[in-house]
Amino acid sequence: MTKDFIANFQAHTNIALIKYWGKRNQDLMLPVTSSLSLTLEAFYTQTQVHFSKSYDEDQFILNDQTQSIQERQKISRFLDPFRQIKNTNLKARVISYNHVPTAAGLASSASAFAALACACNEALNLNLSQEELSIMARFGSGSASRSLFGGFVEWEKGQGEDSQSSFARAFDDADWDIGMIALVVNHKAKKFSSRQAMQHTIETSPFYALWAEEVAKDLALIKAAIKARDIQKIGQIAEHNAMKMHATMLAANPSFSYFQAESLKAMEAVRQLRKTGLTAYFTMDAGPNVKIICPYSQIPAIQEKLRQDFHPQTIIVSRPGPQPFSIPLINH
Ligand code: DP6
Repeated sequence: MTKDFIANFQAHTNIALIKYWGKRNQDLMLPVTSSLSLTLEAFYTQTQVHFSKSYDEDQFILNDQTQSIQERQKISRFLDPFRQIKNTNLKARVISYNHVPTAAGLASSASAFAALACACNEALNLNLSQEELSIMARFGSGSASRSLFGGFVEWEKGQGEDSQSSFARAFDDADWDIGMIALVVNHKAKKFSSRQAMQHTIETSPFYALWAEEVAKDLALIKAAIKARDIQKIGQIAEHNAMKMHATMLAANPSFSYFQAESLKAMEAVRQLRKTGLTAYFTMDAGPNVKIICPYSQIPAIQEKLRQDFHPQTIIVSRPGPQPFSIPLINH
């Protein structure tokens, strides 16, 4: 009788300080640039994968909801390389819970694919390294390659068309006075997926040509600032990098933007925090919410100020998060 293979894993999401925006090879999920992120403690995915001959087809249940055929096919394509390595054609049931505070509207694909890659590795006893799993996770979503590690993480763009050369690595454990606040200004569904939006930017934005050069410079600067534990510099570089990414979209044709009125209000609030002597910088991704980089020790003071303009429930605080880990059970 064929054995059943089952495992449960938890992986945390990450927020890029130096953004990944664009692929040089869409089939191989190879990025145009390297990028660097901070893994967060407050947001994570728990996933169970169960490979068994009792399933005739793959199943995918997310937050207690059976997912559409399209979503299931995405999961099947992600599972195929793991099945290939194990030399099995067993189908699997994947059950996932995203632990992102209600309606936070933050991307969860990074933690989702990292958790699933780790769960497959454990369930099938593949003994893949973190770097190999980072490559596998990349095929689910580029940013997922970075959720294989805790703290500050660098995803190397790799060389040419060599898929095996592009993976993430831990850069710094972030076990010092740094934190992040997610300011959930709007939780409506995003208008464009980051996948389509970055491709549209590459194809039509005249500003994109400069992007890769700017990222290379910002990456070198931020790595030095992280090693020096200089949050002010880290914040300045991250804020500027995010705005340069959004500028490439403003110059796309037709142009588009993830900025909403509330996002601009949040950015202005962060600038005002700085005027009062606090250390706070913003970054923003493919959605309207704003994330604030700051010393963890200043979070109470920052929260108090933000509460004057934003509902307390929209201010979500996080420390740096860990690398994925095995769990006995998944929780709702
Ligand atoms: C703006 O990783 O979601 O958050 O690789 O197409 O799945 P795909 O895109 P995804 O893009 C993330 C874009 C970003 C910046 C970042 O996380 O580096």
